[in-house]
Amino acid sequence: MPIKFKKSDKTFILTTKNTAYAFSVECDRYLVHQYYGKKTAAFKRYEPYVVSFSPYLKEAGNSWSPDIFPQEYSFFGSGDFRTAALKLKGADGTGVTDFVYRSYRYINGTHEIEGLPQARGDEDTKTLEIKMADDLTGCELLLYYTVFYEEDVITRHILIKNKGKSAVKIEKCMSMTLDLPSCDYDLITLWGGHVDERNYQRAPLHHGVQSICSRRGASSHQYNPFMAVCDQKANEEKGDVYGFNLVYSGSFLDEAEVDQTERTRVQLGLGEENFGYTLLPGEEFTSPEAVMTYSSKGLGQMSRNFHNFTRNRIMPKKALKPHPVVLNTWEACYFNIDEEKLLRFAEESAKVGFDMLVMDDGWFGARNHDRAGLGDWYVNTNKFKNGLAPFVKGVKQNGISFGIWIEPEMINPDSDLYRAHPEWVLAVPGREPSLSREQLVLDMSNSEVVDYLIDSFTKTFEGVPVDYFKWDANRHLCDIYSPTLPADRQDEVPFRFMKGVYRLLKWFEEHFPDTVIETCAGGGGRYDLGMMQYGFQIWTSDNTWPYARVWMQRSSLLAYPAATMSCHVSNPGEDMKSLDYRYKVAVGGMLGYELNILNMTAPIKEEMARQVKEYKSFEHLVRLGDYYCIACPFLSDYSSYYYTNEDRSEILFSLIEKRSAKKGVTKTLKIKEAKKGVTYVDLLSGSKYTGEELRAGLVLPLAGEKDTASLMYFVEEKQ
Ligand code: DGJ
Repeated sequence: MPIKFKKSDKTFILTTKNTAYAFSVECDRYLVHQYYGKKTAAFKRYEPYVVSFSPYLKEAGNSWSPDIFPQEYSFFGSGDFRTAALKLKGADGTGVTDFVYRSYRYINGTHEIEGLPQARGDEDTKTLEIKMADDLTGCELLLYYTVFYEEDVITRHILIKNKGKSAVKIEKCMSMTLDLPSCDYDLITLWGGHVDERNYQRAPLHHGVQSICSRRGASSHQYNPFMAVCDQKANEEKGDVYGFNLVYSGSFLDEAEVDQTERTRVQLGLGEENFGYTLLPGEEFTSPEAVMTYSSKGLGQMSRNFHNFTRNRIMPKKALKPHPVVLNTWEACYFNIDEEKLLRFAEESAKVGFDMLVMDDGWFGARNHDRAGLGDWYVNTNKFKNGLAPFVKGVKQNGISFGIWIEPEMINPDSDLYRAHPEWVLAVPGREPSLSREQLVLDMSNSEVVDYLIDSFTKTFEGVPVDYFKWDANRHLCDIYSPTLPADRQDEVPFRFMKGVYRLLKWFEEHFPDTVIETCAGGGGRYDLGMMQYGFQIWTSDNTWPYARVWMQRSSLLAYPAATMSCHVSNPGEDMKSLDYRYKVAVGGMLGYELNILNMTAPIKEEMARQVKEYKSFEHLVRLGDYYCIACPFLSDYSSYYYTNEDRSEILFSLIEKRSAKKGVTKTLKIKEAKKGVTYVDLLSGSKYTGEELRAGLVLPLAGEKDTASLMYFVEEKQ
């Protein structure tokens, strides 16, 4: 049983394959965090002590101050001055609550979070429910812990039930608190911007609150919801690492606070500035799910825990099958597409061996540029004279499948939809809403809008054999107001917006069961576990320059598996070496192409055909294998990694030089997972190596030249 309650010391112990997590009930009221780390029979328990200026209740005694003991979940206003997880304003207007432990129960499987994505359980999954209550507001608080044993992951969320007589307002609602016993940690986060997503940032924690957040209504390019706290000496292979994430795609807050006792509080969830929610008597609210993992073997193991968890528990099952190698039209054509041109694209794509043609933006309404047409989801008959269905059938006659671009949440003011329903956009009455990429945002918190979109997409795609949707979102939310809510509940709109988006995604999933969705938000602006639940992959970034992709793909792999990472070879011109480099960078994830196939020379097309064939021979390792980073491109002049299967009989090895790499420098690149006592053949060159040789390291000189990369696909030689 992965969850136990030890009556003797009132301690809950949750175990995964390699980790343990414990908290106890103290003074018959408090939940005190005791341990999170390596699986062990015994751990050092927290010993209460007195600290002046830290309040306590008479009945508990002055050694039990809520300001000092490690909390399992923290509350505003009743003696804990650290950053709180929950701020709830009841009838007295103070925001003070005092939730007290009441009871627990076990649940088989998971506890469902209505309307939000969450990790999938199975027959072995167990959940612990802890009940707490605040008598004065009449609110009940339920804490949920789901144990994913094999993946070394515990997920958490909370539910608040208003059982009182007055309304309460939730002003801050974190999905989890974790009070760690030390502060000698580094904090790792991923920051960025459009075409510059997920830069790696690592810095020692310092006293005070350090946080990252999104107030943009999307998880954002600017800060990814992933965060890790690790030993200051932790590296890829060694050291204690705690990794965290949220299964949510909207605004969020991740916090780490080092307090006066030199401990660290970690919290993830819905923060103050971007969130508020009123609960009337009888109503309840459930937070998004937070994900925690612990690794005693450095960052690499944390990443692999997240990869396994995301593949097994988050991504749709169909995403684990081979992904099509697509040719996408965007960088080749932008809005300049029509039936005749794309049928030629389809014909050429089939010849090269691409699996699918993806028609990007520009096929609908008056969408000849980004200033018009968004919201009008009917085919542009100037470009596609016979309509969508005959065109798609024409594409498919070449033996390839077909994908199409949509951006459901957005609208151009110059659109039929806006002219008919100006009240359906997010805009504050009396104020002019700001444009971003010439577009406004539809009020997805209004169910009428979502119903309209469902109706509109039903009509447009009726009888059209689409195999893949690319779901884009090209701006963030501001001027947020919805006429569906009263003035004092407007701060609910961003959360309700996200629920509307998820409802529409779910509808697509159910209405088109054989179709896959690639999500995108101006590139990787919603590269999160929420979107990964619906999409089979995510467009990593609008930046397809391979030198940028080298580090971006590496930092994405810190928290997310390669199976979600959509990587395109973009226009190499006629430069064969550049094509090779772009390919070797892109095969680190799910390969696709984004170039004008009609302009490609015969040798380039032949080489792409060879690449696609080669990629398909090893892509299962990228999609499902274990990822090991040998050299990080943000720490060295080159990137080196490998993917390997469970029994280590296959290894895909990569070395990619950055522009700064120096000629003549030799590197020893150790493939430590290679098996001893066997011989491996590199199927790409025919060279043979023993497992011992690979473990000792491939000794490779850097060329120090533009566009240099090498790839080796080792397969164990059968006797
Ligand atoms: C942004 C996406 O990231 C691009 O790939 C492309 O789909 C454009 N939007 C289309 O407008």
